[in-house]
Amino acid sequence: MALIPLLEEHELPPGNCREVVAEGRVFAIYNVEGEFHILDGICPHAGGPLGKGTLRGSVVTCPWHGWQLDVRTGQHCLNARVCAARYAAVLQDGKVLADVG
Ligand code: FES
Repeated sequence: MALIPLLEEHELPPGNCREVVAEGRVFAIYNVEGEFHILDGICPHAGGPLGKGTLRGSVVTCPWHGWQLDVRTGQHCLNARVCAARYAAVLQDGKVLADVG
């Protein structure tokens, strides 16, 4: 298990998302009703910033062309063949860390 610290829990209230670049990777972090979820921050469509999208419930809308993904799974809402890479979110001492394996 390799953990990369991304932000403090209090920095991302429920209903919000954030892009964080750490250790050469772009992460998209989401807080869905107090649960943190982390996707690869690069949209699988054309590389848009998924961490800068609009989060409604557990669905993020990419700011570039509007693809919608469920942040809990990375799954595209309309196309079953499209799924963004996701990372397990680990909470430790008030921090949110990504488990990059
Ligand atoms: S880059 Fe995300 S929808 Fe096109």
